[in-house]
Amino acid sequence: MQNSTDISLSEAAVAVLRARDPLEKVRLAEEMNENWCERRYSGIGAPIAVSRPGRPPRPELLRPRDMPNRRNLQSESGRIALMHALAHIELNAIDLACDLIARFADAERSEEFYSDWCRVAAEEAEHFLLLNEALARHGAAYGDLPAHDGLWEAAADTADEILARLAVVPLVLEVRGLDVTPPMAARLRDAGDEANALVLDRIYEDEIGHVAIGFRWFDVVCREQNLDPSETWPALVAKYYKGRLKAPFNLDARDRAGIPRGYYLEPKGNPGESS
Ligand SMILES: [Fe+2]
Ligand SMILES: [Fe+2]
Repeated sequence: MQNSTDISLSEAAVAVLRARDPLEKVRLAEEMNENWCERRYSGIGAPIAVSRPGRPPRPELLRPRDMPNRRNLQSESGRIALMHALAHIELNAIDLACDLIARFADAERSEEFYSDWCRVAAEEAEHFLLLNEALARHGAAYGDLPAHDGLWEAAADTADEILARLAVVPLVLEVRGLDVTPPMAARLRDAGDEANALVLDRIYEDEIGHVAIGFRWFDVVCREQNLDPSETWPALVAKYYKGRLKAPFNLDARDRAGIPRGYYLEPKGNPGESS
């Protein structure tokens, strides 16, 4: 590995975004985190907006409503479909972390912001690898099944404002993963699939940290703009998120991520239906 590089962090994040091959995207995300930690970049760099991340020729991308939403985890094909869908989410998550770094690059912002999101990108890359290995244990691979483009659509909808991005991506979508993952792991265990359940357990622990990072920076940026975070969050969710907040909420995980319960249990304003 080189000792220093002429490129900026935002250019490195764009290289991750543009990578089409998933394993190359993973490698570049891990390298970006390492280079950032070792202070090898020329600086934060200018903001760069990438309209669409690089994607491999497969999987075929369908509209979310065209995807099957109920899977029988008692069957191996159902478990493969679940792990494939999660692999696709993690690949998108690498891009979402890099897009936050590149699109909203601002040299005035604290270095901790970039350290946090570089770490998130590297952890999402690791999650993709764990799921890719899980698929391989079943004789399957990422790209074998169709996937949907809903996550990147959420990114596009919140492309203009960092607070909207933080309000929706970590604090609605990623936190939803915390609500649904433990029941999913339990269903895998019911089906006798301990190996895949352990992969979900591992990802779940990291994701609590990602939501905590999302909340931390949402709070910081709100205060920088003299906004009350507890009023701003429901207003941004109502404006930028088309779906509804879905109970039941995983209170323990949300508490561990530091999200005050009043945000989603008794929101000021109307961010969607909570029951
Ligand atoms: Fe992840
Ligand atoms: Fe994450």
